Amino acid sequence: MASGHTATREKHARELRVWDLPTRLFHWALVAAVAVAILSAELDMLSIHMLAGETVLVLVLFRLVWGVVGSQTARFADFVRGPRTVLDYLRRSSVGGEAAFTLGHNPLGAMMVVVLLLVLLVQAGSGLFTSDDILVDGPLVPLVSGAVVSTLSTLHRTLANGIFVLVGLHVAAVFFYLLVKRDNLIRPMVTGRKRVPSRFAAPEPRRAPAMLALAILAASAGLVFLVLRAAA
Ligand code: HEM
Repeated sequence: MASGHTATREKHARELRVWDLPTRLFHWALVAAVAVAILSAELDMLSIHMLAGETVLVLVLFRLVWGVVGSQTARFADFVRGPRTVLDYLRRSSVGGEAAFTLGHNPLGAMMVVVLLLVLLVQAGSGLFTSDDILVDGPLVPLVSGAVVSTLSTLHRTLANGIFVLVGLHVAAVFFYLLVKRDNLIRPMVTGRKRVPSRFAAPEPRRAPAMLALAILAASAGLVFLVLRAAA
């Protein structure tokens, strides 16, 4: 049974829509595409691997643009913060309770988001220039010298380990919030809605039109398609 304090807090808590549909669809599509890319690489199914990697590229390009023109909580300007704010967040979080509540990504999670997006961009981009030196070449290999192919192939193989580490850290952090801090970040990334403490007087975050997201996704897919075709 909830304590009096918890019951009062829950009675006064509101739910706000913090994550728009495009950001949520992006996230779970990215999880699927990265998982397929990793599994197919392990199983040596390289045509599937390349398709999954190109999908990651389209998704990340979409997210980078959505981070500039998209909904309020999806914008980098809304969540990317300097080291001082991250330290302040850590201090407030160690106090516990609602002192460190943030509507969108918290300043520490935001750092992870930016690193993940950049690393996935480099990983998917370098894959286009990667060769297995036997049978399979990435689609842009014919455009560059052997030395560039060799460097980018090494980068692509090395960074794959980095992605394991980053994804592991990311998922561990989400479960740390769930199990230790009793803060379920997963539900909002599924439903879009987050419980907001009553003292937090902010209005519902502004949402950008879904049609804009579709247009950006189409443009990102078109760009990747044109680049791949140019090399064919
Ligand atoms: C391949 C695996 C994964 C990748 C590459 C990945 C990547 C990302 C990225 C880029 C974001 C930022 C979303 C945005 O602002 O657009 C994010 C946020 C998030 N991810 Fe993942 N993710 C992965 C797996 C997972 C899994 C398995 C879970 C849950 C069990 C999860 C839960 C979350 C949550 C809850 C957030 C929002 C955190 C917050 O509220 O600040 N992710 N992830």
